[in-house]
Amino acid sequence: MSKLLIRQTLRLPQILATNLTKSGQFSGHITGHQLLIRGFSQTSPMNRIENVLIIGSGLMGSGIAQSCATTNRFKSITLQDISEDQLSKAKTRITQSLTNIKEKKKANIGDVNEVVSRITLSTERKPQSEDNLLIIEAIPELLEPKQRIFKELCESFKDNKSVIFVTNTSSLPCYEIGKYVDCKDRFGGLHFFNPVPLMKLVEIVKVQGTNEQTFELLQQFVKDADKVGVACKDTPGFIVNRLLVPYMQEAVRLLERGDATARDIDTAMKLGAGYPMGPFELMGK
Ligand SMILES: NC(=O)c1ccc[n+]([C@@H]2O[C@H](COP(=O)([O-])OP(=O)(O)OC[C@H]3O[C@@H](n4cnc5c(N)ncnc54)[C@H](O)[C@@H]3O)[C@@H](O)[C@H]2O)c1
Repeated sequence: MSKLLIRQTLRLPQILATNLTKSGQFSGHITGHQLLIRGFSQTSPMNRIENVLIIGSGLMGSGIAQSCATTNRFKSITLQDISEDQLSKAKTRITQSLTNIKEKKKANIGDVNEVVSRITLSTERKPQSEDNLLIIEAIPELLEPKQRIFKELCESFKDNKSVIFVTNTSSLPCYEIGKYVDCKDRFGGLHFFNPVPLMKLVEIVKVQGTNEQTFELLQQFVKDADKVGVACKDTPGFIVNRLLVPYMQEAVRLLERGDATARDIDTAMKLGAGYPMGPFELMGK
């Protein structure tokens, strides 16, 4: 993709934004020897994520917590935020979403309050347990605060090989976010889609340094959260946004030139390409 096209795609709606300055390529050829040095000890008991700490209780963080709580496959789920108000909104959002899903019979979720009670809300960045723990960062899309969080996490858990860390960024290079992470073998990306409780896909991002054990744990975690994972290197837009953003951009250009109406473009893509929604319907979501 040309730099110009990439730059143009940036002007698309926020939800689809991809980072134009991102240069992160996976240069990650890691030898077996390096893996051994960087990797988990062979006696590491960690073969499945049991506890989850989610940092940031906004749209994505609350959706991830809800998805984990719904499957009931985790020993603990902690949703942390710097704002009490945001945590309270997250609880309301999760309760409403579960109630909706239950009423529309989209999933068998049992008692809504019981599912909500599986999530511990906290302003303290403290998991219920540090064993077999996955920490998911879902704070706003700003590089420095994200870098700071991973630096602090790395300092707190540097000797604990039972903890792995991921970012849910859509558009920042994961490698940059993890710049100050010493234990890069235990760092990666998990890109969920909005609305998380309804969207099955998760892009599992291998960052330079992510080791195979971490990657396999993330794959298993995604399955345990009842999602479908696809693997991707740390490349701009990962898979979905990399393809979707230029497509949306072209739709806008067609409309701006007066080549076709929004309605006809939507109809064309639904009936001609088999897409469930046209580009303008998707932008309106
Ligand atoms: N919104 C989407 O459609 C979407 C889709 C995929 C990925 N993402 C990515 O997910 C991440 C979160 O997006 P969002 O839409 O949920 O954001 P949001 O603004 O809805 O929520 C962010 C939350 O993080 C909290 N927060 C801020 N600083 C914090 C800190 N230091 N510690 C703990 N909590 C903190 C805020 O109080 C807020 O509640 C971003 O990186 C975004 O790019 C978003």
